Amino acid sequence: MKRWPVAMLIVAIALSLLYGGSAAAGSSRWGKEYFPNVEVITQNGEKVHFYDDLIKGKIVLISFIFTSCTDLCPLTTARITQVVDRIEDQIGKKIFVVSITVDPENDTPAKLKSFADAFYKGPGWTFITGKPDDIRAINAKLGNKSDVATDHRNEIVLGNDATGEWARNSPFADIENVELAVRDMDPAWREGHHAPATPLAPATDQKGLKLQAEPGQVLFKKICAPCHTIGVGDRIGPDLLDVTVRRDRPWLEKMIMNPFRLRAEKDPTLAELDARYKGVRMPNLGMSATDAADLISYLATKSDEIAELRAQPETSHVHSQGNEAAHHGHGSMGSHP
Ligand code: HEC
Repeated sequence: MKRWPVAMLIVAIALSLLYGGSAAAGSSRWGKEYFPNVEVITQNGEKVHFYDDLIKGKIVLISFIFTSCTDLCPLTTARITQVVDRIEDQIGKKIFVVSITVDPENDTPAKLKSFADAFYKGPGWTFITGKPDDIRAINAKLGNKSDVATDHRNEIVLGNDATGEWARNSPFADIENVELAVRDMDPAWREGHHAPATPLAPATDQKGLKLQAEPGQVLFKKICAPCHTIGVGDRIGPDLLDVTVRRDRPWLEKMIMNPFRLRAEKDPTLAELDARYKGVRMPNLGMSATDAADLISYLATKSDEIAELRAQPETSHVHSQGNEAAHHGHGSMGSHP
């Protein structure tokens, strides 16, 4: 199978979305008649009906995964976790996430459960598997026609069954934009919110700190931050604060460039990490030696900055934790215009 570096794939996916347009918008042809209402099994072993229980009347964000995936699916799922953090007020109430396996032969409910738990433990996010033919029929309706798990699409599908609006989006678009696209599926939210749905502002967060496009920072934010923070605690993987102190450089390079090779070499440090972080492995992200060097330099600089800030006695309000992962509970907009 042809292999693209993940970073290139991400760019390609984002571009194909910009230029490719969205599917099935506007009509209600994706409704009760469209989706197979077959029985599927959740990560908790519950049997539910795909349409009646997971789609009917709901706003949904749908993704496609398989648990033995070593590159994009864990990253996609981690990016969705970032979206979920931002729509916490609605998740499990109006908005629901459904992640469908593209490998129903191998993905048992138990495997889905340990994968799911590595990312999110709250309500409102269902991982499903089931009879291979049924799961394939659902995937096909959502645009995943390939039989080969590794060829599945890395897009997400957004829909509102009640209004019949459906669209495709990318988990690699800016998280803020994905959040808005999801919220936009809700007519009530749209009414109370007149701002344009996709403010295409350049990324100018993190005022203050010497930001100007350090390459390591850009990579970190897009590809690592869904799973790691620097100094804000463990997320899906370990907090990387001071990781350049706790590990030596050759090890870090190998870990960032190809964790699966490191694991194949029976590296004891990685074995110990694997025992602590269950359910999901750090993916192979196609990082080059230059990328790894940029990332290591960014991790060191950022850790130093945080150490400096922490050494200062309670200063004013320095908004120091410029990590996207820390944005919990953002976004309750005033509901009255
Ligand atoms: C899908 C989630 C995910 C993504 C994305 C990810 N990691 Fe990880 N990372 C993990 C997990 C989980 C571990 C723990 C090791 C394991 O079990 O695979 C880990 C471990 C590590 C470690 C070792 C930490 C330690 O304490 O020794 C480093 C360094 C690291 N990751 C760097 C990165 C960098 C740099 C990126 C971005 C290029 C990245 N990771 C992207 C999940 C992820």
